[in-house]
Amino acid sequence: MSDFWIAPSILSADFARLGREVDDVLAAGADLVHFDVMDNHYVPNLTIGPLVCSALRHHGVQAPIDVHLMIEPVDRIIPDFASAGASFITVHPDASTHLDRTLDLIRESGCRPGLAFNPATPLDSLRYALDKVDLVLLMSVNPGFGGQQFIPYVLDKVKEARAMIDAEHRDIRLEVDGGVKIDNIAAIAAAGADTFVAGSAIFGTDDYADTISRMRAKLG
Ligand code: DX5
Ligand code: ZN
Repeated sequence: MSDFWIAPSILSADFARLGREVDDVLAAGADLVHFDVMDNHYVPNLTIGPLVCSALRHHGVQAPIDVHLMIEPVDRIIPDFASAGASFITVHPDASTHLDRTLDLIRESGCRPGLAFNPATPLDSLRYALDKVDLVLLMSVNPGFGGQQFIPYVLDKVKEARAMIDAEHRDIRLEVDGGVKIDNIAAIAAAGADTFVAGSAIFGTDDYADTISRMRAKLG
């Protein structure tokens, strides 16, 4: 893995042949599998759960699985995702009444905790949670759907989060999720991100390896 991680969101994959899609995107150079979990409550869409995560592991996927929970509440399902083979489990602070407890639960379950912020949600809770997270995810679209436009003001937020993380001197990934494409990935990296979720920009193309290598070329 390089210092920059590319995380294809399987939300835009062909679910009828998901195992093969994940194999293909990993063979094409992806670093981790971004796994979007939606509940038609926290977000207006419904996707996949621990059974599908487990199925990917049984299929033979060995890359880290980056589970992004857009569900509320979160605590009951966290051990299920840990058993299903999740690597990172990322939650939104506004989806957990007791965030500190939730982050502990993810760690105790054997996974790496992440904290996700919607575009207009301030980073306030990160100040108190920074010593407990291994990943900070900044949404650059409103969560719920793939294929939306990147919201430019999130670049300032990436800079703000980068400054907070650097002050911590720990290995914390800074991930940007939503509307990431070949033509904006360099600007997002320049603002301080090191992990890039891309769904439609990768799965919407015919040649995943070509798309991922074009993204990497922009990262220098
Ligand atoms: C949106 C999801 C994203 C989404 C990204 O709620 O969290 O991971 O799939 O899709 P693109 O890259 O198409 O914006
Ligand atoms: Zn996501």
